[in-house]
Amino acid sequence: MTHAAITGWGKCMPSAVLTNADLSTFLDTNDEWIVSRTGMKERRVSHVSAIEMAVVASKQALACAGVDAADVDLIVYGSCSSDELVPNSASGVQTALGATRAASMDVNTACTSFLYSLSTATAMIRTGVVKTALVIGVEIISPFMDWDNRNVAVLFGDGCAAVVVQASDKEEGVLGEQLGCLADARQTLRVRGMGTAYTNRGVTSGDTEWDFDGPEIFKRAVNGMVQASQAVMKKCGVTPDDIDLVVPHQANLRIIEAVVNRSGVPMDKVMLTVERYGNMSAATVPVALAEALEEGRMKPGALVLLPAFGAGLTVCAHLVRWGDRVTPLGVSDAALSKPKKSALEMVQDIRARKSRDASHPGLQGVTFIEQM
Ligand code: ACO
Repeated sequence: MTHAAITGWGKCMPSAVLTNADLSTFLDTNDEWIVSRTGMKERRVSHVSAIEMAVVASKQALACAGVDAADVDLIVYGSCSSDELVPNSASGVQTALGATRAASMDVNTACTSFLYSLSTATAMIRTGVVKTALVIGVEIISPFMDWDNRNVAVLFGDGCAAVVVQASDKEEGVLGEQLGCLADARQTLRVRGMGTAYTNRGVTSGDTEWDFDGPEIFKRAVNGMVQASQAVMKKCGVTPDDIDLVVPHQANLRIIEAVVNRSGVPMDKVMLTVERYGNMSAATVPVALAEALEEGRMKPGALVLLPAFGAGLTVCAHLVRWGDRVTPLGVSDAALSKPKKSALEMVQDIRARKSRDASHPGLQGVTFIEQM
């Protein structure tokens, strides 16, 4: 049987940092509330497009694997915050990399987009459709953020990472996954203001307001990730004691603690980035994976559990067997330019732009599928 080993990894984090203190300059919030309820201290705001972040992360991942862009057969771009809808974003990465013979697709399952993309690439490798794939998890939430809503504005950040997945005879890569969607709760997280439901009613695309039922998402996320983790461990015949490292979606430290406690894995086996980066949606899992390797926390042959959830509410858990190599074969000199403005200045620009667009009929009157 052909397996799909992860042979390269790379990240691209924009350098502008938005702290809890920055947020409290324009929101009725404070560091104590944010840290105690979420575990977050800071997050990043990107001064470049999502595709630019994805290209840097991809170049790092390809150098790490020692793979030439021209040998990539497939690019899967996991994200819910694309620069454009048409053409797709994967084709933008493809052209910037010179991956001329790749097939390119975007996958949007919100925060689980990277892991659903990994499943897609793995399935195509196992079935012989492709041999080498680049899988990206990227998110540029800041332009779509409802910055004046403290319920959501403190939670999210921008970032990107990518992995290279290659056909292998060894039993490596995704050993099994559990995928699902709690669609009866899809109304708990909705970004109003993107898509024809809104533009057909005269709303300026991108002028967003968020529907967000945090406590309900919290409960659903914990139950969903625990059930998915237990299901994938059972399917693969492993127990919590066999898990070497957990790399979970980083939406909230309290969600992560609840999931690992109920799954029977100790917290010292968990890779955390939530304090420094917040919730980067599709980018959280691959960035945490890349940092686990950078920090020497990934051991050769490690068994890794990756539970995640996202809007939809999509939910999943993957079990990955890491290979022998935990250091990069090479490093690319690709890097982002320096931002000209601070994170807070960029956020203030977005807030000012949105208030200039406030002449539209308003989003609260816009109904959507459940109410029609
Ligand atoms: N600063 C200060 N106070 C705040 C803030 C803030 N930033 N946000 C909310 N509050 C207030 C609320 O108004 C409320 O006040 P009240 O009691 O006077 O009404 C109080 O804090 C408590 O609010 P709760 O919602 O009960 O707080 P909770 O402990 O549930 O934490 C949180 C809220 C952090 C949002 C939590 O529910 C959570 O993490 N939920 C999961 C959300 C999530 O991760 N979503 C990601 C979706 S994934 C994707 O695909 C994008």
